[in-house]
Amino acid sequence: MWPVLAFILPVIRLYLIGVKVLIYQMLHKSFTLPVLPRQNGRVAIVTGGARGMGYETSQHLASLGTHVVIAGNEEEEGLVAVKKIQKESGHKKVEFMYLDLASLKSVRQFVQRFKAKGLPLHILVNNAGVMLVPERKTEDGFELHFGLNYLGHFLLTNLLLAGLRDSGQSRRCSRIITVSSATHYGGRLDLNDLQGRSCYSSHGAYSQSKLALVLFTYHLQERLWARGDPVTANVVDPGMVDTDLYQNLCSPAQLAKKPVAKLLFRTPAEGASTAVYAAAASELEGHGGLYLYNGQKKISSASSYDKQLQEKLWTKSCAMNMCRNSTLNGLRVNSILLPLTNHEPGFLTSPAHCAIGCSLISRSRSAFIPIAKGVLDSSKADGSRFPSAAWANQTDPFEVLTRVSCVFHRSSPS
Ligand SMILES: NC(=O)c1ccc[n+]([C@@H]2O[C@H](COP(=O)([O-])OP(=O)(O)OC[C@H]3O[C@@H](n4cnc5c(N)ncnc54)[C@H](OP(=O)(O)O)[C@@H]3O)[C@@H](O)[C@H]2O)c1
Repeated sequence: MWPVLAFILPVIRLYLIGVKVLIYQMLHKSFTLPVLPRQNGRVAIVTGGARGMGYETSQHLASLGTHVVIAGNEEEEGLVAVKKIQKESGHKKVEFMYLDLASLKSVRQFVQRFKAKGLPLHILVNNAGVMLVPERKTEDGFELHFGLNYLGHFLLTNLLLAGLRDSGQSRRCSRIITVSSATHYGGRLDLNDLQGRSCYSSHGAYSQSKLALVLFTYHLQERLWARGDPVTANVVDPGMVDTDLYQNLCSPAQLAKKPVAKLLFRTPAEGASTAVYAAAASELEGHGGLYLYNGQKKISSASSYDKQLQEKLWTKSCAMNMCRNSTLNGLRVNSILLPLTNHEPGFLTSPAHCAIGCSLISRSRSAFIPIAKGVLDSSKADGSRFPSAAWANQTDPFEVLTRVSCVFHRSSPS
């Protein structure tokens, strides 16, 4: 009985939310964008910017003079989009870069290639997403909705954060815009079963990934404010929009959707308007941690404001982003993301740093202590930077152990 309910409840919740959104859209016009300031000299990355709302967002930002990098996993489609936007906007600074959000390795490679360009970064639009895909895993073994919609963007944002911070100014912050959905209201986040192993529901998985994005955005903004960083992070809900996102609906639902979409769904340009607004509007300067729907601030689900849940998800996400793509002493570790409460997550990439991870994975406390001490000493000696001031001043290897162990005690996704 329970597995049946666990399967059906997310479906019912998702469709009820859909009906509610459609009633709203029937009664309210789509938000009209105000005149936005020019964005000359600003650089934006738009994930999934080659089609749907991502395309419209890229197009609009380019028309404002933004240098737009479309990050997507279909090169041909991306290059066509670039040409089209260049033609429509008359703006040449539009380019495509390959990014597969279903691969943490690809996310890292994308960031490396972007950094190699030496461009600043002022706007990051975490737009890409998939919905209702039958049970499937990402390259790293995560449930697809969670891994692609949420975890890929979590890593991308964290790896780009230093660039966003450097490009931001107190009077003109860099902006992170993350596209969630009303389905997050029906999302349930089970930290012990993020991969939906106990009973899989693609409806539940999509809603969960969208709730995770809201939790992530709020927590990220808290961290940015705590450091006084000139970066804001907001989450947007585009409403129900007629795009390819619905391609995985079952055939009867596809049939029913067609006429409804014609009448009540927003167009991709209308759907993208709130993201464009969040990316460029002067009145949002310095405002972060908002849930924006139809151009207005709205209250998101009660659970999205749960600070403990936000923090726990952050910590768990850091742990999950531990890479398994290269080897050291036979263990597959490449770079390590540390969750440091109240501090910036740090990406440890040197072999010495990885050694900490390896020794912890091997669960050998005695092996760990001299390594940790060695890393601390060598790090100070060669000037390489620990990820936060707290680490730089850390002299007690036991303290280091307690901080990193929550990352490394797990070697496979949960
Ligand atoms: N449509 C709606 O009613 C609605 C409602 C609420 C929220 N949303 C959200 O809005 C966002 C945009 O969706 P949309 O409606 O515009 O759908 P869409 O037309 O299907 O666009 C989805 C985009 O995501 C990209 N993408 C998919 N898998 C990817 C991967 N592995 N790596 C990189 N990019 C990938 C696609 O790029 P490629 O073409 O390169 O694969 C595509 O550009 C999504 O986050 C969605 O959840 C949509």
